[in-house]
Amino acid sequence: MDLSSPEQDPEMKEEYSSVYVGREEDIKKSERMTAVVHDREVVIFYHKGEYHAMDIRCYHSGGPLHLGEIEDFDGRPCVVCPWHKFKITLATGEGLYQSINPKDPSAKPKWCSKGIKQRIHTVTVDNGKIYVTLSNEPVKYDSDFYATGNFKVIKTPS
Ligand code: FES
Repeated sequence: MDLSSPEQDPEMKEEYSSVYVGREEDIKKSERMTAVVHDREVVIFYHKGEYHAMDIRCYHSGGPLHLGEIEDFDGRPCVVCPWHKFKITLATGEGLYQSINPKDPSAKPKWCSKGIKQRIHTVTVDNGKIYVTLSNEPVKYDSDFYATGNFKVIKTPS
């Protein structure tokens, strides 16, 4: 029997149920909050009217993304990791970097994507309450390494 979907595995279903993390009016003031959702620590950003949730520790070396600045790169809002300044798109979890064509030194550096590196979770708002549902994408993302095992659940300042 295939136990890969929540419908077929009751334990899995629990892990992917939505969890209340805070009030909308609070995150609108602070523009970010942290939460532990089924033993996984996440950061939730409120940016330009939209909510985004992702694993709290940076895919590169586990940096604390809840302390990162939000900036636009190539028109895409990103969190900039405070440790080594990697840029991660809020909407998709892609790692962005700049590249230049070495054969054309006059060319402007271009923003490129390394692909999805940070696991993104789903935020829903109901009646002023914010809920996070963990991603159950059956793909390994680099940030999973810091969200599990010895790195699981770090202490975060409130
Ligand atoms: Fe985030 Fe290195 S830990 S950029």
